[in-house]
Amino acid sequence: MLSASVTIDPAFVVGPVRPRTFGSFVEHLGRSVYTGLHDPGHPTADADGFRGDVVELTRELGVSTVRYPGGNFVSGYRWEDGIGPVEQRPRRLDLAWHSTDPNLVGVDEFMRWCARAGVEPMMAVNLGTRGVQEALDLLEYCNVPGGTEWSDLRRANGAQDPYRITMWCLGNEMDGPWQIGHKTAYEYGRLAAETARAMRMVDPDLELVVCGSSGSQIPTFGEWEHTVLTEAYEHVDHISAHAYYWEEDGDLASFLASAVDMDHFVDSVAATADAVRAAGKHTKRIHVSFDEWNVWYQKRAESRPPSGDDWPVAPVLLEDRYNVADAVVVGNLLISLLRHTDRVHAASLAQLVNVIAPIMTEPGGRSWRQTTFHPFALTARHAAGDVLRLAVDAPVQETAKFGPVPVLDAVATHDAETGSVVILAVNRSLTDDVALDVDLRGFPGLRVVEALTLSNPDHTWSATADDATSVLPRPNTTAKVSDDRAHVDLPPVSWSMIRLERI
Ligand code: AHR
Repeated sequence: MLSASVTIDPAFVVGPVRPRTFGSFVEHLGRSVYTGLHDPGHPTADADGFRGDVVELTRELGVSTVRYPGGNFVSGYRWEDGIGPVEQRPRRLDLAWHSTDPNLVGVDEFMRWCARAGVEPMMAVNLGTRGVQEALDLLEYCNVPGGTEWSDLRRANGAQDPYRITMWCLGNEMDGPWQIGHKTAYEYGRLAAETARAMRMVDPDLELVVCGSSGSQIPTFGEWEHTVLTEAYEHVDHISAHAYYWEEDGDLASFLASAVDMDHFVDSVAATADAVRAAGKHTKRIHVSFDEWNVWYQKRAESRPPSGDDWPVAPVLLEDRYNVADAVVVGNLLISLLRHTDRVHAASLAQLVNVIAPIMTEPGGRSWRQTTFHPFALTARHAAGDVLRLAVDAPVQETAKFGPVPVLDAVATHDAETGSVVILAVNRSLTDDVALDVDLRGFPGLRVVEALTLSNPDHTWSATADDATSVLPRPNTTAKVSDDRAHVDLPPVSWSMIRLERI
């Protein structure tokens, strides 16, 4: 048994818990939209063909925002294809995923789904094959009350009131050579600045996200952010960050330490943004929108798009089955995002349904929760108030990728109104339990009201439609408080949530 200690103090506030940290992402990719969200023959489908069971699971997951419609898909998308009578909409080649999009779902259907699921939309515009004018047209369609061609068309299509979408992504991963319409940082920075400037002429209250890097390993990381922000700083509010992690060559220790990379990613982007701020004598700060993050086994066959003459509708793509270790990493990445709540103002778990997703569906049939569903749902439900900076003292574990890494990682939130404290913690040790001791002197009189741990002696266990419940977060009966010190034993490869309230 290893020992670790943590000190929590109400004065060490990083910033508020932001609802937008718990965003997700729906792309026209694989079975994310078609047979995921949208499945007209399903017994729970509504008039638009949206599955009620998926809406319910989305609500249970605690999702705040949903980014749409891509992803790589958006860089070739013509949004006008997805409006008006469904039977008149064109079928189009989707070059990003070598698929055919029947355009049965477009912006109006998506906005009705958002209303039903109780989520805020985060709309992306195509800056791959398109530019300023098409972005303005979409904005006019969505946000202008009426009296113009596009806004009147929206009204004719059934939406009397404007959608008033606040969050807009200026393209997607434009740094990536795989992106349709890939650009240099300067080319993209100029286009993003001009698109943002024009969009603000329509609606000055938008929150605009400029594309940052698609990963911290990409060769242009850092330089890309610097150049893009030098061009676009005054016109945007957030810069995006994307990161996917997976266990490679059986190196579980490095995989479990993935949050080390996320910490470094956010710190580096914030530092770069601040450098541009200083050099440009800007006063406002740019925040990070971590709008794609997850575990994704990119090298597996199911991540390879079809090829040749085969352009299927809604193929099975990127349908990763997540195990217990994957869920621990997802929980740890959320800890990292919360720890950076002063700079990360939005985030999107990529994605929501079927495609690298916490929610899985069978066409016309069952839906179920993957292992990764649980740490996300519990964090979204319980983290409240302010995020606190912790003093952590823990033994280290050697990793091939990151060197020595503390076995324990944790964050805490404090809700000053209710007095409750929530501790989120992972034990990244492959072999040892960790006895965690928490100094709560700053919060006299707390007691444990709920302690849940997700773990399994077999960390490779994955949920299926037939068995999604064998490994659920279970009550951790070792959690207790005495003399303003909390104690809990954390099994190896585990994620835990401990909620404390005043007696
Ligand atoms: O989420 C899957 C893909 O990952 C997205 O389409 C793209 O933006 C990223 O590379």
